[in-house]
Amino acid sequence: MFSKQPRLSTLALFTAMISIALAAVTNTNLQTTFPTASSTTNLAAVQTILANETFDGEMLQWDRSPSTCNEQAEGADADAVFLLFDGATLSNAIIGPNNGEGIHCLRACTLNNIWWTDVCEDAVTFKGNGTGTVNGGGARKAEDKVMQHNGPGNVVVRNFYAQDVGKVYRSCGNCEAQFARNSRFENLFVEDAGVVVGVNGNLGADTTFISDSCVKGSVGAKGICNLYEGNDNGGEPTKTAGVPDGVTCATSGIRTTDC
Ligand SMILES: *[C@@H]1O[C@H](CO)[C@@H](O)[C@H](O)[C@H]1NC(C)=O
Ligand SMILES: *[C@@H]1O[C@H](CO)[C@@H](O)[C@H](O)[C@H]1NC(C)=O
Repeated sequence: MFSKQPRLSTLALFTAMISIALAAVTNTNLQTTFPTASSTTNLAAVQTILANETFDGEMLQWDRSPSTCNEQAEGADADAVFLLFDGATLSNAIIGPNNGEGIHCLRACTLNNIWWTDVCEDAVTFKGNGTGTVNGGGARKAEDKVMQHNGPGNVVVRNFYAQDVGKVYRSCGNCEAQFARNSRFENLFVEDAGVVVGVNGNLGADTTFISDSCVKGSVGAKGICNLYEGNDNGGEPTKTAGVPDGVTCATSGIRTTDC
C-alpha cells in the first residue's frame, strides 16, 4: 500500500529546478568570443565586495553613471566599478565602457569569467599584499594596460583573452612604494597587443612566467616582454629590453601561429 521511497513534493522539485536554471554558469575556460549582456546595471558609486565574500554578476553588464572614464588619467578606488576587499571573489560580470578603473583589488582577490568590453585607464588594479587570481574572461580596446600590479603580492592569470590592448599586464613602473612583483600567465590568447607584459628588471627584479600561450600579431619573442628600469619618483620608466631575458621574464610554449 505505502511506497517506501520518500517522495519529493511537486513544489520542492519545482523550486529545485528553478534554482538550478537560475544558477549562473561560471565558465573559466579560455573563450575568444565576448559575451553580450542582456542589460546594464549603472552604478552611481563603486560596488564593494567585502572580505571573503562572493558576488555573481550573472553575465550582466556593470558600469558607472555618470562615467568615471577620464582617458589615461590615473583614477582612484572611487572610480572603479567593483572594489574587492581581501579574499573577495567576483564572477560572471561584463564591465562596460563608462568607467575609469574597472576593478580594484585591495589584497587577495579572485576574478572568474570577467569581461571588459572597452578598457579606459586600466581594467583591474592589484593593490595589496595577496595573490590576485584571474580565471578565464577577457579584455579589449585598452589603449594602455589591462592589468596593473601596484602591490607587493602575486598575480596569477589563466585562460585569458586579450584583443587590441597596449599591454596585458604591467608591474608598476613608478609607484611611490616599489616591490619585486611576481606574476604568472598560462594559456593566454593575445591578439594585437603592443606587448604582453611589462616588468621591472631592477628594484630586486620582478619575475614573470608566460606559458602555453598564443600571441598573434607579433614576431617571435618581440612583443612578449618589455623590461624597464622602474623608479619610485613618478618618472616615466626607461625600457631596457624588448625580449624575454629568461630570468625576469621567462617563457615556455609560446605560439605565434597555429592558434
Ligand atoms: C577571510 O578568510 C581568511 C581565511 O579563512 C581568514 O583568515 C580571515 O580572517 C577572513 N577575513 C574576514 C574579514 O572574514
Ligand atoms: C606581505 O605579506 C606577507 C605574509 O603576510 C609578509 O610576510 C610580507 O612581509 C608582506 N610584504 C609586504 C611588502 O608587506
